[in-house]
Amino acid sequence: MTKVQERAPLFEAVQRYLAEGILPFHVPGHKQGRGIPELTAYLGPRALAMDLTCLPGLDNIFNPHEALAEAQALAAEAYGADYAYFLVNGTTGGIQAMIMAVCQPGEKIIMPRNAHKSALGGLITSGARPIYLHPEVNTEFGISTGITPERVEEALEEHPDAKAVFVVYPNYYGTAADLPRIVEVAHRYGVPVLVDEAHGAHFAFHPDFPPSAMAAGADLAAVSTHKLLGSLTQSSMLLVREGLLDHRHVKAVLNLGQTTSPSYLLLCSLDLARKQAATRGRELFSRVLDLAEYSRAVLRQQEGLRLLDRESVGRPGCWALDPSKIVVNVTGLGLSGYEAEAILRHRYGLQVELADLYNLLLLITIGDTPETVEAMVQALQDLAAVRVCRNVRKYCPPLPALPPVAALPREAFYGESRVVPLAEAAGEISAEAITAYPPGIPLVCPGELLTQEIIDYVQVLKQEKADLQGLEDPTFQTIRVLRKVAYLESQVRAQTGTGG
Ligand SMILES: Cc1ncc(COP(=O)(O)O)c(C=O)c1O
Repeated sequence: MTKVQERAPLFEAVQRYLAEGILPFHVPGHKQGRGIPELTAYLGPRALAMDLTCLPGLDNIFNPHEALAEAQALAAEAYGADYAYFLVNGTTGGIQAMIMAVCQPGEKIIMPRNAHKSALGGLITSGARPIYLHPEVNTEFGISTGITPERVEEALEEHPDAKAVFVVYPNYYGTAADLPRIVEVAHRYGVPVLVDEAHGAHFAFHPDFPPSAMAAGADLAAVSTHKLLGSLTQSSMLLVREGLLDHRHVKAVLNLGQTTSPSYLLLCSLDLARKQAATRGRELFSRVLDLAEYSRAVLRQQEGLRLLDRESVGRPGCWALDPSKIVVNVTGLGLSGYEAEAILRHRYGLQVELADLYNLLLLITIGDTPETVEAMVQALQDLAAVRVCRNVRKYCPPLPALPPVAALPREAFYGESRVVPLAEAAGEISAEAITAYPPGIPLVCPGELLTQEIIDYVQVLKQEKADLQGLEDPTFQTIRVLRKVAYLESQVRAQTGTGG
């Protein structure tokens, strides 16, 4: 990295502004904390003083040309991108902008069926037509992994008019699809690749992680800097590679959803997190990787626990693994992941990142020390030692076939709908998604036809007390469906050009 990465232009501009002792007759109304003494006393006056927004000398987020432009240029360099845009609405905002930037209403986008719900938001706002690909499933851990280059190529053969390929890389559990080959395939068809890199903000800063989305050749990547680098919650970045896409159009779309009052606490934290990762990332992540390797080595030996480990690499959909994510299958203890999570929280004062039916996910980050990691390892060893070990297999049956698509997600979202008993909904167009965990792949998405096979499958999962999500009705007795007659009539009117 260049020497200039030592700088933090936005943070420095804020420091200059505060050092000048300007009398603030501008928002925010608390005026550097003076108007909200209780919060200022708790957070400290400096944090409140830094709570500024766009002002002369501090640049503006819509058309940056001063300190923010410089900070974003450094971030682009650090990530090997042509452009970087700072986001204050998480990666969610970046994902929606990516989809809107490439798809007009009705245009196709190839994406994994288990994409994060922010991608559904992008489909609804853009009006795009998803061509869903089934991700691969690791049945031992009950998790969906990635999509394969072969499936992407088949989809591009079948849909040469697709406007983009959307990839989740890596997934929540740290498994990474073969992004370099997916990019190579998509670019052969002249199609850009958009990456949900929410869980890979650190990849660019150590060679022992899988390559970052930009290093793999992606065209756009939305990166949750706040998840695994040091920036504050909600702060993310959108990275752009010029060529198949025009950065000015991407920025114009981003500006549609971006607040006019971005928090400079969040923006400065992005500037500093980039500086830290670019200048000290190698050293910091070497330590993280050592701590992770230590905990893996101990937990691998522990009877009753199974780690998502190197042997998973090379299976379809899992080209690489983020070693800093510790995924522990606890079914060998006779516990579900949820039960183990509750015990760790209440007996050991430890909160995991995620629990599912089979597993716990624990993150080792730049915030850890040998002491914190030792405490985590000991809690898990202790938990394993006091359980009567019996091998329990929880239910993860093969998924039903993908249902036929009747309407776009946007039409399903805006269409007139009604609520019907789920048991009687076969043949209806769903206005909601139903997702079963494991493996976290939607059985039906908005706009798809509910088949009897899906309804029967949901009933079986309910009996098994599996984790079902997505419906407004938490008991899963009823489902919101499109008023089919009204919907079909509107389609006919649209096609024949008749009014009404
Ligand atoms: C795979 C994936 N994509 C996108 C997001 C959204 O990221 P953010 O919370 O930064 O909006 C998440 C959040 O957890 C996620 O898990």
